[in-house]
Amino acid sequence: MRGRRSPPIMVNMSGKVCVITGASSGIGAEAALGLARAGVRVVMVCRNRRRGEAARDRITRAVADAQVDLRIADLSSLRQVRALASDLTAAHREIHVLVNNAGGYRTRAEISEDGFERTMAVNHLAHFLLTNLLLPALRAAKARVITVSSEAHRRARIRRKPLDQIVKSVGGYSWVQTYGDSKLANLLFSFELARREPDLTAIALHPGVLATRIWNQNNDLLTFPLRFFKPFMEHPARGGQRIVRLATAPELDSASGKYFDRDREAKAAADAYDEQLAAALWTLSEELAGLEPVRQAKPAKS
Ligand SMILES: NC(=O)c1ccc[n+]([C@@H]2O[C@H](COP(=O)([O-])OP(=O)(O)OC[C@H]3O[C@@H](n4cnc5c(N)ncnc54)[C@H](OP(=O)(O)O)[C@@H]3O)[C@@H](O)[C@H]2O)c1
Repeated sequence: MRGRRSPPIMVNMSGKVCVITGASSGIGAEAALGLARAGVRVVMVCRNRRRGEAARDRITRAVADAQVDLRIADLSSLRQVRALASDLTAAHREIHVLVNNAGGYRTRAEISEDGFERTMAVNHLAHFLLTNLLLPALRAAKARVITVSSEAHRRARIRRKPLDQIVKSVGGYSWVQTYGDSKLANLLFSFELARREPDLTAIALHPGVLATRIWNQNNDLLTFPLRFFKPFMEHPARGGQRIVRLATAPELDSASGKYFDRDREAKAAADAYDEQLAAALWTLSEELAGLEPVRQAKPAKS
């Protein structure tokens, strides 16, 4: 595995609050550690209590004065996303960084408790709803919102299939395409958020190809061979470090609406910049997540 050691983060962020989803494993766990080292109060959102506590204990062992809170929520459930958001807004008037990181893919079509395709429900809809519900606290802090996408967005078929059919898993299921769709949705969302919320800094990231549990998530024959490539991938700490940089680097205050491929600003696939598609996805997501349309798009931050 490459890049195991991550350098210490020098930016001091004490007093700031960061919420990070998918903090029990992989790059989310590494980013939570890096942010705790930078002095941030880290709120780790985890699905599984045991894994969440293990990840939190690892941080408190490594960082003497770490401030770490654990919240448990299965993000495939909109009800649990709402409960999480109300818990977070009750605890924090200001949230300085939100990292929309939790995610993965299902090799077989699975339907969430709300009736949506599960990969889209977790990777996109949950983060769409969570971000919107946290907007007052994010606006109050002029926050950064980091959304973890993937270069896999280039395989999306959102253009070729009606959006609602993708989200509701109507018709044939391809896990590669569905994952790609969800990651394009992450980019469309992040760029639209940048246009709608000029006081926030919304940045999207491809974190690299990293040896995390994502390759073992399905535990089936289809994806079994993927784990043999893990020794050639980067260590998850490299992905965590990239999130920490996007969350903390002062020079990125003007990076709203940008996409980073690992350490560099990059150009995403053309569909990601389609403003009509982004607006349509936003409206559909509002409907599906049961959010009232709040406002019209505002001009992007200059
Ligand atoms: N690894 C890569 O090469 C790579 C490349 C491009 C993009 N990414 C993106 O990076 C992000 C993090 O993935 P990773 O590689 O770090 O994988 P990982 O080690 O499998 O971590 C995924 C995290 O998401 C959480 N999660 C999954 N489903 C959830 C749900 N329904 N509710 C709440 N939390 C849930 C997992 O919780 P549990 O611990 O409970 O499973 C885990 O904490 C994902 O968005 C992924 O698409 C990864």
